[in-house]
Amino acid sequence: MSVITLSTVEAAYDTVGAYNQDAINGFSDQILDAMLDLSQPATATHILDAMAGDGNLTVRLYDYCQRRGIALPRVDVLELSHVQCAFARQRLQDTPARVIWGNIVTLEDYEQSTRLPGQAFDRVLLKSGTHEIPLAHQSALYANIWHMLAPGGMFVNLGFVFDDEIERDQFREITRVKDRLAGMQSAAEQRHFLTREEFYSRLHEAGFVDVRCGRHVQYAIHTQVAIQQYFPPEAWDRINAEIQAEQARALVLRRRGRIHFQGESSIMLCPGEITLARRPR
Ligand SMILES: C[S@@+](CC[C@H](N)C(=O)[O-])C[C@H]1O[C@@H](n2cnc3c(N)ncnc32)[C@H](O)[C@@H]1O
Repeated sequence: MSVITLSTVEAAYDTVGAYNQDAINGFSDQILDAMLDLSQPATATHILDAMAGDGNLTVRLYDYCQRRGIALPRVDVLELSHVQCAFARQRLQDTPARVIWGNIVTLEDYEQSTRLPGQAFDRVLLKSGTHEIPLAHQSALYANIWHMLAPGGMFVNLGFVFDDEIERDQFREITRVKDRLAGMQSAAEQRHFLTREEFYSRLHEAGFVDVRCGRHVQYAIHTQVAIQQYFPPEAWDRINAEIQAEQARALVLRRRGRIHFQGESSIMLCPGEITLARRPR
């Protein structure tokens, strides 16, 4: 990965500042708890929350364990944006979690000026992150997750998984409009939303076995909710109109019931899943 790419990806989530990823995606507590159920934290000792943003999944994980009387596993929180790392440190200050400012594509730990360790975790959890990584670096992403997992360890991913390339491409264009308007130029150029074929084939190439869908998930992205997370109030009407103009052009998504307009608002329903993959013993 080039230095330019690194700094620009980092800047993207520095620019966003405080926001709620799950509200944007329309994820319910049920969906997020399903991810934790499938992660089986009761049998885990050391978990990596990868591409963790403000650490919200780890906050939820600790709460999940406490409510169920599960011994708290060690959790490392890995995040590229130092702004998001600062939010994570604040949110997790009363927990034993360790926040690492680092890069999952290069395995650099900027905090310690070392490499992220191999075979260190029995779970790697990744929520809403794979689409941030450019296609050219997707293979490295899964190879690095495999490298960080101990033998027998499990990768649990909650993310977009498209079965249809045209749907993916049209959704990509709509997202690109939002990214450009939000000043996330690197994201606009580099993001890659995976098809199932692209995702599963890379997992297998990395050496994962037992790759399977643990649960289908439907993203329910309310345009107005997303806009309110990313933009100041004075821009809401203008951005809403620009994004809806792109949504109107996405005829295949509309024909298949994936975009609905109602009054001045709209909603996009996109396919996703909680995917499980195991590093063999
Ligand atoms: C869409 S956000 C999701 C954050 C969090 N997982 C959540 O669900 O709220 C993706 C996060 O991945 C981070 N990220 C992007 N590239 C990364 C990389 N190479 N290494 C580590 N984190 C990265 C971004 O800074 C951003 O905070």
